[in-house]
Amino acid sequence: MSSLLHLLLKQPQSLSSLNNLVSNNGAKALSIPGLLYSRRRGLHSSPPKPPSFAIAFDIDGVILRGETPIGGSPQALRRLYYDSATAATISALKIPYVFLTNGGGVPESKRAKDLARQLGVNISPLQVIQGHTPFKQLVKRFENDLIVAVGKGEPAVVMSEYGFKNVLSIDDYASFFDNIDPLAQYKKWKEIQAVKQHASLTINPDSERVGAVFVVSDSIDWSRDIQVLCDILRTGGLPGRETAHQPPLFFASDDLAYQALFPAERLGMGAFRIALESIFNSIHPKDMEYTSYGKPHPFVFKNAENVLTQVVQSAYNNIEADGGTEPFKTLYMVGDNPSIDIKGARQAGSPWFSILTRTGVFKGEGNHTEHPADLVVDTVEEAVDYILRKEHIC
Ligand code: G3P
Ligand code: MG
Repeated sequence: MSSLLHLLLKQPQSLSSLNNLVSNNGAKALSIPGLLYSRRRGLHSSPPKPPSFAIAFDIDGVILRGETPIGGSPQALRRLYYDSATAATISALKIPYVFLTNGGGVPESKRAKDLARQLGVNISPLQVIQGHTPFKQLVKRFENDLIVAVGKGEPAVVMSEYGFKNVLSIDDYASFFDNIDPLAQYKKWKEIQAVKQHASLTINPDSERVGAVFVVSDSIDWSRDIQVLCDILRTGGLPGRETAHQPPLFFASDDLAYQALFPAERLGMGAFRIALESIFNSIHPKDMEYTSYGKPHPFVFKNAENVLTQVVQSAYNNIEADGGTEPFKTLYMVGDNPSIDIKGARQAGSPWFSILTRTGVFKGEGNHTEHPADLVVDTVEEAVDYILRKEHIC
């Protein structure tokens, strides 16, 4: 396995380029509607000082279960805006915050719109950091290669919006190879879409090697995806051909489980990775090589801090983009998964302060034994209440 740390050491410019890329999340980082204090600040003689703290919210198991808001999340988020009565439209953000999720499957701009509808507050794409958001930093390396994008939602749209030029979802890719999935005829629930006439694709998957595979979001057909990925990986990107060097493989996260609507946790991308790796290593002489992103990597928390700085700079548009803001004194991570959210915040160290809710993966009475949080609360609403009281915000 090639670790993310190894990748970053090989690419020392990764963090800064990632920050630049993240700032282009579908909105100009310094002119985000809905984050402009200045609209309200026109009434003030002197501009308010930016807060010395900010918040990162996990989504699944903290803010939502499935599509449903939980733990008083709409009320909690409304408290982070100047005027809660107008927060559902365009208003002023009082407390800088981002969503820091290992989930994904749609572009950040679409996720921001979906979250805004579900939660009743205005949300900028800049405030949405998904597991696959860092894939943007790999555009230069694979810009013109044939890319296969795996997962629920719109994985190919996500990758194309990041700038990859020749992307096919695994659904579309598989449709180029007759009988690649021997179980396809039994999958009555599947709508088979043949896209062999894909107009914008300049590469022919029958003869062109896959340059890289990106698991963008959770696989929705493990049997087909594991079969096709084994085909791609063991043949150097030409299914049905002779064995060749494995193309690079990237996972947006490595969560073994996450909290959805069902009372017990559901298998996540990490479980899919284990299944694929185990099968691949059983049928291939060389072990599967891959890189996974997402929490709990410290790099994700460093990036969240940089994005939160951009959120402050956007909100206080009189502050110089470079060096105009004070470093945060406290960054709160509100999460439900001890081995992902809490471990990540603890590894990231100061100024991160971890808050564990009981609305998701963690449901214990006291604190988690292996990855104890700085604070345990029942819900995100309690977490926000604690933060605002501690920071003397009424
Ligand atoms: O598929 C989503 C899951 O892996 C985790 O999402 O928001 O809890 O980081 P989240
Ligand atoms: Mg979660």
